[in-house]
Amino acid sequence: MQPDMSINLAGINLRNPVMTASGTFGYGEEFSEYCNLEKIGAFVTKGLSLKPRAGNPTPRIVETPGGMLNAIGLQNVGIDAFIAKKVPFLRTVNTPAIANYFGATVDEYAEMTRRLNEIPEVAGLEINISCPNVKQGGIVFGTDPECAASVVRACRAVTDKPLIVKLSPNVTDIVTMAQACVDAGADVLSLINTLTGMAIDLNKRRPVLANVTGGFSGPAIKPVALRMVWQVARAVKVPIIGIGGIMNATDALEFMLAGAWSVQVGTASFINPGAAETIATDMAAWLSANNISDVKALIGALEV
Ligand SMILES: Cc1cc2nc3c(=O)[nH]c(=O)nc-3n(C[C@H](O)[C@H](O)[C@H](O)COP(=O)(O)O)c2cc1C
Repeated sequence: MQPDMSINLAGINLRNPVMTASGTFGYGEEFSEYCNLEKIGAFVTKGLSLKPRAGNPTPRIVETPGGMLNAIGLQNVGIDAFIAKKVPFLRTVNTPAIANYFGATVDEYAEMTRRLNEIPEVAGLEINISCPNVKQGGIVFGTDPECAASVVRACRAVTDKPLIVKLSPNVTDIVTMAQACVDAGADVLSLINTLTGMAIDLNKRRPVLANVTGGFSGPAIKPVALRMVWQVARAVKVPIIGIGGIMNATDALEFMLAGAWSVQVGTASFINPGAAETIATDMAAWLSANNISDVKALIGALEV
């Protein structure tokens, strides 16, 4: 018996709950040789901005026990090159592509939303609010509920496409942030983005990353992510995408029990570029072995 693995995420039809996470899967095409994109639920682009960005100086990646730190600095091709050079590939794949993006001001977020809204090949929008607001002294949008809500409201006003808001874990109260984003018009919440961390080279007496701090991801962050997904799932009614340290099908299924409708695979794709496909296949096998006919039966089914 083949279980029903499909998930409807605010109108985005996923053949299974497994997506790839922004910044870890290029624009889809780069990974298509190693991962069958038509075996996963959806893929998410690298974070896009109005202008192309070269990113931070190197070193900008370092391995740590149980994870990695990155300070890529939101390098991306910019919206014009995305449309000219990356969108044609999206047309060739029968899998929803989700555009992740960011801005330095509320107006930039709104302008990006307007531009992406016009692209039929983009099935949904994922707003990365883990970025500094240059008009408010560099405060990260996603660490202040009112600041986050103002971004979401501005984006909501200019699109009917499914709007996913990606939450930062670098906050005291994730539930307050989640509620502010839902009240402002988010259709879906995805969490978590990376945790801020740093690594030090003892002998050089210097930080390892040129940027000094970076975003921490990988297996070590899974317990934090699971806790946040569980807390948010109990507090809001919109679907949740669970992200953080998902390396295998067991991890993904645990996130669904905690309340996620779908999951994103990030760092695991650096170890095995076919990880997302393997996770989707193994999840279906686990359901079959346990006589569960529909993956939706697992969402929030944790017994506490
Ligand atoms: C190298 C790298 C680049 C990333 N770039 C982005 C990005 O552009 N936008 C974004 O929202 N998240 C970005 N992320 C965060 C991931 O999408 C994901 O939320 C995070 O890595 C946690 O998942 P993981 O533990 O499975 O990697 C990036 C992560 C890594 C490792």
